[in-house]
Amino acid sequence: MEQINDYLFRYKSYIFVKSMTTTEHIDSLQSFEIQDSDIFLVTYPKSGTIWAQQIIISICELGGGLNEYPNNLEQMPWLEYTEGREDYSLRPSPCLFSSHLTPALMPLGLKAKMAKYAMHNPKDNIISYYQFCSVCSDVETPTSFEQFLEQYLTGNGSSWFDHIRKWHSKKDQYNIRFLTYEDMILDLKAAVTKICSFLGKNLSEADVEQVVEKATFKTMKKDQKANYEFVSKDMISGNFMRKGNIDDWKNIFTVAQSQRVDQLLQEKISDRSLKFIWE
Ligand code: A3P
Repeated sequence: MEQINDYLFRYKSYIFVKSMTTTEHIDSLQSFEIQDSDIFLVTYPKSGTIWAQQIIISICELGGGLNEYPNNLEQMPWLEYTEGREDYSLRPSPCLFSSHLTPALMPLGLKAKMAKYAMHNPKDNIISYYQFCSVCSDVETPTSFEQFLEQYLTGNGSSWFDHIRKWHSKKDQYNIRFLTYEDMILDLKAAVTKICSFLGKNLSEADVEQVVEKATFKTMKKDQKANYEFVSKDMISGNFMRKGNIDDWKNIFTVAQSQRVDQLLQEKISDRSLKFIWE
């Protein structure tokens, strides 16, 4: 384990927030028991995690048999975080989990289970991540966008590029559905329908419409179970539901910065079977 700064440590080539987890907990996840009907949502941070949570939870609620929890964080907790953790083996299946981990750190039993992977154009992801780090007390406040960008692009094991590449390379080993934030923005109903079909939930047209309505930015922003405003203001002084759109990077990136990301995409994601909707 390597301390990176007062906030972060590196363990098994991945970067963790000190206040959120421990190396012992990360190791224990390898033998974490999974039930057949459990569902995992895996994302790189700031890729629409809480949005996808709301969709999956709404679909499962309509499908029946889901225990209710006070909010989406408790309903679909992060596997790797220790805070607020309970003994999930006592929960009736299906259990829903979220994670930002890379495949090597996931429970070994995940192999044949349901996992959905959501990703986001790295240029917009950088902006969302930068804004988030600027208001989150659990990480170092970026000194400037340029400094943050540099750190993001050279993320050594925890970068967007590594995360996407590692998960995509495992696509044949897991029962996994890839979806981008951009897919969800461009056609939310089509994205909801794809997720229903992946989860094997045969919802009526009216139910699909209901899930879509619950997952719009406007509705979610007001939905106290889903908008994460229940997270302490001492930890996050801004909103999880910030802008909720695409292509904001065009207002912020210089041409040189944009070209640098394009070049890294070419270099680091060499598997061209991975086509990105924003390319
Ligand atoms: P912005 O910061 O670009 O606004 P995560 O949940 O992984 O932290 O991702 C956060 C991003 O998802 C934020 O992007 C947030 O606004 C966006 N988001 C959350 N719910 C959304 C929704 N219903 N519609 C569109 N974007 C949403």
